[in-house]
Amino acid sequence: MTTDTAAVFASAFGDSPDGVWAAPGRINLIGEHTDYNEGFVLPAALPHATRVAARRRSDGLVRLVSAQGDGGVVEFALDGLAPGSVPGWAAYPAGVFWALAEAGHPVGGADLAFVSDVPTGAGLSSSAALECATVLALDELYGLGLDAPGRALLAQRAENAYVGVPCGALDQMASSCCVAGHAYFLDTRTLTGRQVPLDLPAVGLSLLVIDTRVKHDLGDGAYAGLRAGCERAADLLGVRALRDVGAGELAAAEERLPAELRPLVRHVVTEDRRVLDVVALLDAGDPRALGPVLTAGHASLRDDYRVSCPETDLAVATANAAGALGARMMGGGFGGSVLALVETGRLAEVEQAVRAAFAAAGYGAPHVFSAVPSQGAHRVR
Ligand code: GLA
Repeated sequence: MTTDTAAVFASAFGDSPDGVWAAPGRINLIGEHTDYNEGFVLPAALPHATRVAARRRSDGLVRLVSAQGDGGVVEFALDGLAPGSVPGWAAYPAGVFWALAEAGHPVGGADLAFVSDVPTGAGLSSSAALECATVLALDELYGLGLDAPGRALLAQRAENAYVGVPCGALDQMASSCCVAGHAYFLDTRTLTGRQVPLDLPAVGLSLLVIDTRVKHDLGDGAYAGLRAGCERAADLLGVRALRDVGAGELAAAEERLPAELRPLVRHVVTEDRRVLDVVALLDAGDPRALGPVLTAGHASLRDDYRVSCPETDLAVATANAAGALGARMMGGGFGGSVLALVETGRLAEVEQAVRAAFAAAGYGAPHVFSAVPSQGAHRVR
């Protein structure tokens, strides 16, 4: 990151911060729309991160500034903080203060300066990066002694109850708990996980991220609707969550459901299976075999869950036709980014093909980069 976070702090607040912390955005190898069904996910942290330079205050005030904002300082008192009371980007850090207070943690005021290079609106969890950087800084500034999953859950609580987005735990757990060089195999029911070594460059492979730079409005209400559909299906099936429907029980389960819920259940049940398959392939040292599983995941999101869009479909089809081993959309959907598994020697070819296809379709140029599994939230200095 080029911008010096401490310098942004000094120019907004004078003086130097007590410390600087960072939390990354994420990719997700497989396991989409499974987290709020208590299923499995397999994210990895991006090198792109949100950094925060922070200092305690003793007067119960919070001041926030972001290098990505208009330079203005957002100020509020902890007293009277309530869901919705702080709008815009500052709602995410404000929500973290609110969630910490709600959980009874003794947190006072602070000055915080943010610098981020996580692409926003790209399905790469820039919001989680902002929340997780804030909660880590406050944990250490106030000596709360939280652990990484505990911080992630407070960040998720901020997003659910303060910002009002009914997301699962994937993004915040990834940003808080990932380890460099690994993917994080997480069971979102028990919130226990395992770091799975992921050294793709050693075997000549790369993960290419294609940020389509589109976000369709449809996505906002649709996410909550899909989640509600899954919960209704679980109720009708008499299980706690769709995680409890085994792949072998899928056909019988579908027969007991109204037609509109069947494809949702089909996606969630088969996607959980794909996460287990991918982890088994990585454990067996066969990463090339991931490709078809990723592409099958995309087909399921496109045809059953119906959260893809023309831009992500085109990126997947073009990447695969140009030699990628497999590709899929990531995140909530209706735009955002595609992940492709590519032989490193063919990266340029695949990127070129996607760029050409986007230009031919009249779409804006995508942002393309290769992702190296990086460190979860940590102290920088
Ligand atoms: C968004 C949400 C996550 C998860 C994904 C879909 O990123 O924030 O909790 O549900 O969508 O897998």
